Amino acid sequence: MNSTKKTRAAIKAVGGYVPPEILSNADLEKMVDTTDEWITTRTGIKERHILAPGVGTSEMAVQAILPMLEKNNIDPLEIDFVLCCTITGDMIFPATANVICDKIGAKNAWGFDLAAACSGFLYGMEVASKLVESGKYKKVLVVGGDKMSSIIDYTDRNTCIIFGDGMGCVLLEPDEEGYGVQDSILRSDGSGREFLHQKAGGSLRPPSHESIDAREHYVYQEGKTVFKFAVTNMADVTAELLERNGMTGDNVNWLVAHQANLRIIDATAQRIKLPEDKVLVNISRYGNTTNGTLPLLMWDFEKQFKKGDNLILSTFGGGFTWGSMWLRWAYDPK
Ligand code: UT7
Repeated sequence: MNSTKKTRAAIKAVGGYVPPEILSNADLEKMVDTTDEWITTRTGIKERHILAPGVGTSEMAVQAILPMLEKNNIDPLEIDFVLCCTITGDMIFPATANVICDKIGAKNAWGFDLAAACSGFLYGMEVASKLVESGKYKKVLVVGGDKMSSIIDYTDRNTCIIFGDGMGCVLLEPDEEGYGVQDSILRSDGSGREFLHQKAGGSLRPPSHESIDAREHYVYQEGKTVFKFAVTNMADVTAELLERNGMTGDNVNWLVAHQANLRIIDATAQRIKLPEDKVLVNISRYGNTTNGTLPLLMWDFEKQFKKGDNLILSTFGGGFTWGSMWLRWAYDPK
């Protein structure tokens, strides 16, 4: 275990937002050749939330951040830095973090976007926690989420049943009492890009009539292959993180795992021998919100966390990207 005098980045508040409109499995049965039974047994998803057309990801961030700041009596002018983890920013540029700063009135903050598909929020936690540990930044927002409905093909049953829209956020502050981020292992393997990507819209294939006709602006996924890599890598990296810190499942209070598929979450939990009641799950209500899954879990279950609880955050996503982080929760239910 590390010394307690070190400055660490601790989560001091969490927020979240999902849009009101719901897309249920029953709705999807009318749109593509699928069934509620297939979706439920293969993924664990029952419904997902969909952001209205004409509204961008930054709006979900604002809805997540402002109530969190208000509840914790924090003036937006106190925020030093905003990291927005997303693959569906409002525009290609400027960064959605800049839009968010403007909309919430964080006039003293700077920030940028971080794109690492489903692992974005975890990567973002690593980057932002290093800024806090440096001692220079005292109030840092890590925001994660996506308007996946803006890049989903609702005629493709392989992908449209999985994803949903939503956003969560955390406030990181320095902590010298031993709470906060303790350790992490982050990995990537770009050779996995062929199995999960969006073909057009970037510099390789800028938007054109052809790319639109070929439906290349949507998520493309070879689910079975991604599933195999996800099951192995998320479980492996989680086990490795525990092992190198001399921990077992007995030391873990909560597994906060990316919500892509209930079977992948279960495999990770089983690997570290974690009982079901320590595994946080909300995939049935939100589906896979990409960058939103980890902060939305912490938002949903915040009231169950106690000061000193050991949380293990784990993820796997496009890239491929994956990783795991151990943090000690810094406050009792408010
Ligand atoms: O978050 C980023 C990382 N992404 C992931 O972690 C996702 C990983 N992958 C998965 O979660 C799963 O692979 C899926 C949920 C995407 C698919 O589940 P699967 O058990 O791997 O199904 P499959 O792709 O192997 O398809 C099995 C069968 C196929 O039919 P045949 O060939 O056996 O006749 C599919 O055509 O199920 C069929 N199928 C469907 N049937 C009903 C595929 N999608 C559907 C559907 N409804 N929506």
